[in-house]
Formats: sequence, structure tokens, C-alpha cells
Amino acid sequence: MRTIRSIAEMKAVTQEARARGRTVGLVPTMGFLHEGHLSLVRESKRRSDITVVSIFVNPIQFGPKEDFRQYPRDMGRDSGLLEKEGVDYLFSPEEDEMYSRGYATFVEVAGLQEKLCGRSRPIHFRGVATVVLKLFNIVRPDVAFFGQKDAQQALIIRRMAADLHLDVSLEVRPIVREADGLAMSSRNVFLGPEERRAALVLSRSLEAVRRDVLRGEGEAAALKRRVEAMIAEEPLARVDYVAVVDLETLEPVDRVEAKVLVALAVVFGRTRLIDNILVDPRVAGAAADFPRS
Ligand code: PAJ
Repeated sequence: MRTIRSIAEMKAVTQEARARGRTVGLVPTMGFLHEGHLSLVRESKRRSDITVVSIFVNPIQFGPKEDFRQYPRDMGRDSGLLEKEGVDYLFSPEEDEMYSRGYATFVEVAGLQEKLCGRSRPIHFRGVATVVLKLFNIVRPDVAFFGQKDAQQALIIRRMAADLHLDVSLEVRPIVREADGLAMSSRNVFLGPEERRAALVLSRSLEAVRRDVLRGEGEAAALKRRVEAMIAEEPLARVDYVAVVDLETLEPVDRVEAKVLVALAVVFGRTRLIDNILVDPRVAGAAADFPRS
């Protein structure tokens, strides 16, 4: 594996690979890697001739009161994990390489960026869309891999790629969970033991939603109440939002008749966690996959 820090070098490497007819897969990350990230890496390895993983803790997607400085980092460990997976290139630019003096250009995906997580993180998705477009322009991947864990992010990137005619296809992969159900996240290390235990309410309540849908519950408000009631039982948990929404528009739905996204964000102490499930009453088990673009 070769580690690249310069944008010019990264561009040259993938340009040359493309000229030789190789396909390029990109897995954008902020590092502190876990099995969720590695599932994307493995899929890219399977699907592309060359895999590039980026690690860049993107300052512009963190609000002024958020955890940019505290965000966990361990480049030595990450690099070892990626080496073991057989990744070809690790792209990890410095902050001033990505945002030089006078940087002024941002991508906004209006509408989608204001919903769900956008309400409590108003500048987050413009930072995400901007850095992902920059990474796409640098690496020029044939395919880029994202996790359903960040479903809103995946939908925003998909909208951006369609709107701006980007020549990249997007793959959205299922959520990888710990054995007890907690969705893997780099931020899970911030949880104290009591919070870690309480955080299981996220996956438990989403599983309850799936079972309710399976039993024929079609009223979004009832499903929402169910999740809110379960979370209310956990004194350490504070709900940011629980939403039952359409997958294209992220607008709330009244009834669950097709594939819908049930998404939530819950705060434990200083740690905000997100999780979601796609439910569809028409499919076996009522649990659906992320739709292909
Ligand atoms: P990060 O949180 O590091 O996540 C990188 C990718 O891994 C995202 O596509 C995310 O959805 C996916 N991922 C995280 N946890 C996962 C899990 N438990 N199962 C499956 N996939 C999971 O998301 C970001 O970084 C940034 O916003 C980024 C896109 C890199 C832009 O800065």
C-alpha cells in the first residue's frame, strides 16, 4: 500500500491507472476504522481493480461546538488495517492541502441537507458534499462506496452526483453492527460503560419497528411513538429526532406502504449517535436494502 499526501500525486496515480484501463474504487472515510469501514473496503476490492481509501477528518463538516478536535484519530492503526486488506492507496492529505488560503467554494444540496441531522447540524452536509466532490475530482473513481449507517449522507451524495452529472456510480452498503446490535461508529469509543449499555436502545427500538411493520402496523405516528417510548425508558438517552420518511425526499410519511426510512439520532452525555432501518411491508421480514441508483 502506498500512502499519498499530495493531491497532485493522487491525481497522477489514478489518471495513470485509468489510462491503463483499470477501474478505480474509492472509500471516503474520516479514519479510526472499524468493521463498517472495512466492509466498504472489501466490497471495493471485490468490484474494482484499484482501491483508494481516503482518511481525512474534514473540518468544514463540524460545527463550531462539535467534536472536530476530539474526533478519534489513529493513523498508525488505520494504515495497518488497510495494508492487511490489500488496499492499493491510502490518501490522507493535510488540512491545508485540501483547504488552501482563501478557500471559498461550497456545495449545497438544498432541501435534503436541512432535514433530519441537518436540523441540529446546520453546516454539516454542505461540508460533507463539498469534501466528497473534491475527493471525486481528485481520485475520479468509477465507483464510490458509502454506508447506510449515514443514510441521509448517502442520499445527499447521490443527489449531488445526479445533479452535477458526475461520472461515478455509488454503492451503499448495509450497516455493520457489534454482536449486541450497536451500529459500529468511530464515536462509540466516547461512550462510558453505562452509556454503551443504554445505547443498545437504538437498535432495539428499530428492531421493534421492523416487527411492528411485519405485524401490519402501517401508521408512521404509531411507529414513532413506539421508538420514542422505548428511548424514554433510558434515563441516559436524549432524543434528537425520530423520523419515518420517504427515501427520496426525506419528507415524513403518514403511512408505511412501501420502502421507508426510519432514522433516529440520540444523545448520550456528549456523544450523539445515529442509526436507521429501511422497512418495507411488502418484503419478507419487512426489512429492505438501500435502493440502487
Ligand atoms: P466516516 O464516519 O468515517 O464513515 C465513512 C464511511 O463508512 C461512510 O460511508 C459511513 O456511512 C460508513 N460507515 C460508518 N459506520 C458504518 C457501519 N457501522 N456500517 C457500514 N458502514 C459504515 O461518513 C464519513 O466518514 C464522512 O462524512 C465522509 C463521507 C468521509 C466525508 O468526510
